[in-house]
Amino acid sequence: MTVLVLGGAGYIGSHTVYELIEKGEDVVIADSLQTGHIEAVHPKARFYKGDIRDIDFLDELFKKEKIDSVIHFAANSLVGESMTDPLKYYDNNLYGTMVLLKSMVKNGIDKIVFSSTAATYGEPENIPILESDRKEPTNTYGETKLAMEKMMKWVSKAHDLRFVSLRYFNACGAHKSGKIGEAHEPETHLIPLILQVPNGRREQINIFGDDYDTPDGTCIRDYIHVTDLAQAHILAVKYLQNGGESDIFNLGNGVGFSVKEVIDKARKVTGHPIPAVISPRRAGDPAQLVASSEKAKQILGWKPEHYDLEKIIASAWNWHKNHPFGFAKK
Ligand code: UFG
Repeated sequence: MTVLVLGGAGYIGSHTVYELIEKGEDVVIADSLQTGHIEAVHPKARFYKGDIRDIDFLDELFKKEKIDSVIHFAANSLVGESMTDPLKYYDNNLYGTMVLLKSMVKNGIDKIVFSSTAATYGEPENIPILESDRKEPTNTYGETKLAMEKMMKWVSKAHDLRFVSLRYFNACGAHKSGKIGEAHEPETHLIPLILQVPNGRREQINIFGDDYDTPDGTCIRDYIHVTDLAQAHILAVKYLQNGGESDIFNLGNGVGFSVKEVIDKARKVTGHPIPAVISPRRAGDPAQLVASSEKAKQILGWKPEHYDLEKIIASAWNWHKNHPFGFAKK
């Protein structure tokens, strides 16, 4: 059965494609390559360049390929950019998903697994965070992802379509082959930015605030390996194929690490001193985000395999040290 991966040339999308192909699945990728990389496209997947806002592109794709399920990663995901250019996020993320759902309904494609985010919660009311906790996003990115979830909910009530939404916490690490890894431009995430220091691309890492209400004053996050996220998508597709109801799941390790702890682990892994400088807080950063993923474990049978942060950073370093400029050859 063929799986369509939208955004399969992006970070989490490309890792999911690698895992699907390793499991012997037939995979079609569609990606606009706006933020994705052609080099990240698995050679055994059939690739189509196009935008999910283009209904003719989607309709043709669904007519040409016999798609059983869709995994939808095609979205913009920079929190900072979403605050300065909110309409870009409403357009690509929300409108894009609306066009996608229209085309799926029209073409009788009835299963979709979709990337959501911890940003749907905003400032958490409890740690660890449960799927049922309050959701008040503090940025446009999180707001559009929450709206996409709600859109799927209503569409699934009206039409023959079921969805699984996966709310990721902090995705990190890279594929064991060393062929694909994180390559955002601009980069805003902590681990790749830290690793730019030993790579000689930056002098220091800035710690955004050390006056939070946490043991060492820096923000705590739940870092989850991208391959574990990829496995969860595959389990979610199987769950829907086996008749599972539409549902929403957190994906994290359930263990929090502070910014200072992450930097310390990176020093150990790379053997580089990695100078760190305390800087002002970044707007909109909650002090702590840690997932309860019990629901995904129980219902999807998900078992994250990478829980040792040092090993996770080592897997990221294995990619970044060999690709200091990502897929670009500089
Ligand atoms: N940080 C620094 N210095 C940096 C970069 C980040 O101190 O140079 C800190 C941040 O302030 C934050 C932590 O490191 O406390 C992690 O920051 P990231 O940008 O790596 O990740 P976020 O937790 O901000 O973002 C993640 C996902 C988003 C999602 C968000 C939900 O990457 O997609 O969680 O809040 F929206």
